[in-house]
Amino acid sequence: MTAATSDYLIAPSILSADFARLGEEVDDVLASGADIVHFDVMDNHYVPNLTIGPMVCEALRRHGVTAPIDAHLMVKPVDRLIGDFIDAGASYVTFHPEASEHIDRSLQLIRDGGCKSGLVFNPATPLSFLDHVMDKVDMILLMSVNPGFGGQSFLPGTLDKLREARRRIDASGRDIRLEIDGGVKIDNIAEIARAGADTFVAGSAVFKASNPEDPHRYDGVIDDFRQALAGA
Ligand code: DX5
Ligand code: ZN
Repeated sequence: MTAATSDYLIAPSILSADFARLGEEVDDVLASGADIVHFDVMDNHYVPNLTIGPMVCEALRRHGVTAPIDAHLMVKPVDRLIGDFIDAGASYVTFHPEASEHIDRSLQLIRDGGCKSGLVFNPATPLSFLDHVMDKVDMILLMSVNPGFGGQSFLPGTLDKLREARRRIDASGRDIRLEIDGGVKIDNIAEIARAGADTFVAGSAVFKASNPEDPHRYDGVIDDFRQALAGA
């Protein structure tokens, strides 16, 4: 079952935004119609890159961002940072099963803090990690690239994995979002939606606008995504 068009959520990854002007970048992409702020947290340990942490999440909240913030934790160990992101105002907190010694406990920590919980699957991570925790996840995030960097190409094998994840969600009868992250572009988003995704992370495809003074610079790309999804 694919999601209704109105249920599709677009989640720009701020990894590709201009960090020197982050507040404005987030304001402007939301004003252009994006639904969720995708917030990539990398620790130079679980993944070979280093990005931003809970202080920046909190700063965005203080700046006035009210949209959901989707904290994608690529860190190991993960439990302490789960607490920090709950305190910093995250809405979703997702983590990789390989980064937690006790997956069930980490998921519970997220929900106990009032956030929505999610598990993230690298291209080579099997969906069997879901077997005993379907009642504890609000989001399943499939990586369509190996995590660590923006601007990589979508791995086509992820389409079959999306279909399998969609089957699992439908069979569970639960309200679980299916998010895709990595290499999502205008020309492949419809096919990705048809495979079952309903939440779409896009970094380099969104934050490439030319004129930083134009607050509407992201209108075009968000509209193009919506149009492509309408045809899915
Ligand atoms: C990669 C990150 C992604 C990344 C996506 O590890 O999780 O969120 O920013 O960037 P694009 O859309 O450029 O592939
Ligand atoms: Zn991400």
